[in-house]
Amino acid sequence: MSEHMEVFIDGLNQLHFTGGLVRLDFMSLHPEDEGTPSEKKTNLRVIMNARQTVQLRDSLNTFIQRLQEANVFQNQAAGNRDVGRRNARNGRSLEERYNPGVFSVSNIDDAKRIILTDEGRDGSEDRWRKETPALISLLKNEWRLGEGTTVVDYGCGIGRISKELCRMGCRVVGVDISPEMRNLAVQYVNDERFSVVTPEAFVNMVNHGFSCDYACTIWVLQHCLKPTEDLGHIKRALKNGGGLFVVNNKFSRAVPVIDGVWQNDNIDIWRMCRDNLREVRLLDFPDGIGVDARFYQCGFYQKN
Ligand SMILES: C[S@@+](CC[C@H](N)C(=O)[O-])C[C@H]1O[C@@H](n2cnc3c(N)ncnc32)[C@H](O)[C@@H]1O
Repeated sequence: MSEHMEVFIDGLNQLHFTGGLVRLDFMSLHPEDEGTPSEKKTNLRVIMNARQTVQLRDSLNTFIQRLQEANVFQNQAAGNRDVGRRNARNGRSLEERYNPGVFSVSNIDDAKRIILTDEGRDGSEDRWRKETPALISLLKNEWRLGEGTTVVDYGCGIGRISKELCRMGCRVVGVDISPEMRNLAVQYVNDERFSVVTPEAFVNMVNHGFSCDYACTIWVLQHCLKPTEDLGHIKRALKNGGGLFVVNNKFSRAVPVIDGVWQNDNIDIWRMCRDNLREVRLLDFPDGIGVDARFYQCGFYQKN
């Protein structure tokens, strides 16, 4: 495959859209299945590399989801009646199309780009530098962290948050579905207070009596195939009175799939959390740290 690809976009009338590394002005919105007169089609041809292609497709998916959430599409109500059908493509269920391979990374820089994607404002490295202390300061304000505290970092990636928690003296158990992320986490956190396990090993630990004071799951539940199960495992691990911190998309899910990049299956993560734990408070996502804060949210929960 050549390094560069041609991408055709026809679509969004008069809308201006910033997608990752490119800014595009779309000239016409006439979906083909609505019988567009061919002379009105203004296809935009862009040459971009594979990473840009993925980013653009991802951004467009997110953008269309946001239009749907704002009820811009008139058939939204009808669409909502059959979430299952929309989640299946070519007769294959979301489960069959699930692609955790997006989290296979080869080094720390790659991992950072997947963990905190460039959202068209600050790059991954800047987001990393700004977001990490901002989230840690939220945790410090809410929890008593230090020696003798055990925290589970569910979906720890390479251990961005784990590392800071270890620095404060906490014992941290990272959990991650990706073998590559787990291996890099050991290297990145580089602290004897840190250990990292698979989700299956985590369930096993919980079954054998492991418990924690706090858990965080940051940019993770939106990507889990079965988030209710993941939350169930976290809840079982929490001591009574223990706290959970969640950072997530505010409106949509982004399950990695083989025939796209992400798919929104419309599971409401925030509702799921408050149905299972006591909602202590929801917080606006901190502003000025590399993303449009209106689309993201943080939440503190407690197991009673
Ligand atoms: C966007 S990254 C966030 C990493 C980390 N929480 C951070 O903020 O730096 C999402 C991580 O969740 C992991 N993940 C996805 N689904 C998971 C699951 N069901 N159980 C555990 N980890 C999962 C991915 O492998 C990836 O490392």
